[in-house]
Amino acid sequence: MARTRLVIDTDPGVDDAVAILLALASDELDVLALTTVAGNVAVDKTTLNARRLIDLAGRPDVVVARGCAAPLVTALDDAGDVHGLDGLGDIEWSEPVARECAEHAVDLLARLIAEGPLTIAAIGPLTNLALLQSRYPGIESRVERVVIMGGASFAGNVTAAAEFNIWCDPEAAARVFAGPWPITLMPLDLTHQATLNDDDLAYLRGLGTEVGRRVAAILEPYAAYHERWHGNRDVIMHDAMAIYELLAPEAIAKQGAQVSVETAGQHTRGATVIDRRRGYASSSTRVGVALDNPTFVAFLRERLARYR
Ligand code: RIB
Ligand code: CA
Repeated sequence: MARTRLVIDTDPGVDDAVAILLALASDELDVLALTTVAGNVAVDKTTLNARRLIDLAGRPDVVVARGCAAPLVTALDDAGDVHGLDGLGDIEWSEPVARECAEHAVDLLARLIAEGPLTIAAIGPLTNLALLQSRYPGIESRVERVVIMGGASFAGNVTAAAEFNIWCDPEAAARVFAGPWPITLMPLDLTHQATLNDDDLAYLRGLGTEVGRRVAAILEPYAAYHERWHGNRDVIMHDAMAIYELLAPEAIAKQGAQVSVETAGQHTRGATVIDRRRGYASSSTRVGVALDNPTFVAFLRERLARYR
């Protein structure tokens, strides 16, 4: 079985953590690096959290490379305390053994692309990818595939119009979606179908493993946030959808579309306009539409249970 060479571009982030642990538990994926970006929290924290997750997964072979500390043209407006002040649910962590490499995330991405087919899973703001495009013109055509968690066909989550990853850096997102690379997008209207409930958190705690205990613990404040905003404790597994797409593509119904990003609207800045009209049915940009949550949850439980 040919393994997929993969870099996860991330702003951990509690749902990023689940996505990363899912990827690292899956032999189908050859996770070469985590490249960090400012988003949920500042890049100092997202980089520290990436190191923590590498330790937790027992995967010192995976490189951590720090990326952009701010969006392309505005100051960082992070996700506040949605993911905890430290970005990982504010639980106790020992100082991680995993180090960050000296290479900037964008230069690491360019080098790995030059060395062979590379898939990028982008589960934070798209600042690093946009900088990759401008620092290495034409590189998009040498990337095997980009799977992005972001955007929304209808309602946003930061504003009525905009989803966080796009809203955080709309100029970067506009540049990425205009690029000539094959993109698969997992927008909110898909990710909201993928949730874990309290039974699933109890299952994770019951595994008796450090991964099970810590995933349940970091998701606890996220469940409380969901109760405040959505009226239930079902935690939405936004970022895991990008990894699930790589592992079980047949499990997510998709369709062709054209994706544009609003960068100037007074009330709509960061909105994605996802054009699914028939003319785009064969577009190389695919958008996730539907999945079966019990199937996803069973898949995730089995993969996370692989940690010992
Ligand atoms: O809107 C959900 C996205 O914003 C996820 O990537 C989550 O981690 C936050 O960054
Ligand atoms: Ca994220």
